[in-house]
Amino acid sequence: MPVYTIATIPFPDQKPGTSGLRKRVQVFRQPHYLENFVQSIFDTIAAPPDATLVLGGDGRYYNREAIQVILKMASANGFGRVLVGKGGILSTPAASCLIRKYRTFGGIILSASHNPGGPGGDFGIKYNTANGGPAPERTTEAIYAASKTIMQYRIADVASEIELDALGDSKLGDMTVSVIDPVSDYAELMESLFDFAAIRALLSNGFRIRFDAMHAVTGPYAREIFVNRLGAPADSVINAEPLPDFGGGHPDPNLTYAHELVDILYGDNAPDFGAASDGDGDRNMILGRHFFVTPSDSLAIIAANAHLVPGYKQGLAGIARSMPTSAAADRVAAALNIPCYETPTGWKFFGNLMDAGKVTLCGEESFGTGSDHIREKDGLWAVLFWLNILAARRQSVETIVREHRARFGRNVYSRHDYEGIPGDAANSVMKLLHERFGELQGAQLGNYKVLFCDDFSYTDPVDGSVSIGQGVRIGFTDGSRIVFRLSGTGTEGATLRIYLEAFEPDVAQHHLDAQEALAGLISIALEISELRQRTGRDRPTVIT
Ligand code: G1P
Ligand code: ZN
Repeated sequence: MPVYTIATIPFPDQKPGTSGLRKRVQVFRQPHYLENFVQSIFDTIAAPPDATLVLGGDGRYYNREAIQVILKMASANGFGRVLVGKGGILSTPAASCLIRKYRTFGGIILSASHNPGGPGGDFGIKYNTANGGPAPERTTEAIYAASKTIMQYRIADVASEIELDALGDSKLGDMTVSVIDPVSDYAELMESLFDFAAIRALLSNGFRIRFDAMHAVTGPYAREIFVNRLGAPADSVINAEPLPDFGGGHPDPNLTYAHELVDILYGDNAPDFGAASDGDGDRNMILGRHFFVTPSDSLAIIAANAHLVPGYKQGLAGIARSMPTSAAADRVAAALNIPCYETPTGWKFFGNLMDAGKVTLCGEESFGTGSDHIREKDGLWAVLFWLNILAARRQSVETIVREHRARFGRNVYSRHDYEGIPGDAANSVMKLLHERFGELQGAQLGNYKVLFCDDFSYTDPVDGSVSIGQGVRIGFTDGSRIVFRLSGTGTEGATLRIYLEAFEPDVAQHHLDAQEALAGLISIALEISELRQRTGRDRPTVIT
């Protein structure tokens, strides 16, 4: 196998702290660029000879080309076998499932998650370890360091394309390429966790669902599970064909980007239940008829109803939520008398807790929910969890949410995103907030009195590692909260997120619109951060 020594290998400039490399497609297409990062992964993880790797992606533009390169490099780097999804397709949760089920030496997932795809869109690559989860920070930092000094990479000298569209094994040098069905192992895992018979009965009883795959990776998974295995009518799954550019859309399941589904669920003759997933299938949005379930509430409701679901009826070890996620889940954990962990943003922080058996369920306000069945968040899993609850309770989505709030109180919640603002402006807002910690402490702001303000830091209870600077928190005496955080995933300018939360125990107020109920906190947030003055923006780009 030839070893290519390159005089100048472009430097991938991975954002430190992130789980992989995410860039514009044209950046990835520079000569040797992808190869640099892949070789840096292989050099860092030092797989034993003949190791097995999982490989697949969300089908976005450049997915197939990248898979050809990675297969040839895996062969030249001594891997014994690669399990690759047919057509190069694997959702992120399915890849995690395969890594665990076949005990492989991890896997490479090609995706830029919910970022737009196509020749002008984004592409991404990350390595997941043998537990099925994103590589920990020490590994991603080592890959990053390697990518800056790398001088050569190894690639099999094979001109022909490797067949990805027919199931079965073929040889690439000494390595076996096994093209596998991307859906069946995952669907089997879902069937082992949820009461498919009860959901089938619900659907055959006239309960109507609509799942929007947003022309991304979950289309084939949703068809197999909802239509083939659960008997839903074929038109229950919309935008089911994965397209390299996601049909020009932005495959992010939120109220702004999944507007086609939102219009259906808020329209006349709306179905009973709606859901959507993102580019690579790890996010979820849950809707009822004329009703939106916030991801924070969804986590809490899933936890409170887990005893109705076969895979979880033996009880939950604990719950974990990211810091900006509302404390609704904490109230359920307290009632169940189980621990609730508050972690920094990003799924990787949940992995240690799950591996140590400390938590069963995890969630983030950013439409990510999951459990210890894999080590990624899982969009279709969350949808099936809701369908299982609905099948067991035979109530509407709205009734289930209202009853939950009546029992636990309502954590009114919203996130305001200011996307694509200049980096300097974003940094100056964060700096100002830090400078104000002293004066804010104990201050009375409108109806709210500040109890504490800080920059969130986290000590991992399993390995003791410390993560600092995870977001500015302003907590108020009544349990309300404002959080400011800079996004770590955007590829264009900076994105500033403001997370707003108010606790409302009074059932008589539970009908209020979230923006209305949070108006006081919203104006405090704008005032203390001078966000409008410093960014020149007078409204957020996305409100969730
Ligand atoms: C966003 C979400 C975060 C999620 C991440 C990856 O990151 O906010 O919860 O884990 O995407 O899906 P952010 O852009 O805020 O850094
Ligand atoms: Zn995703």
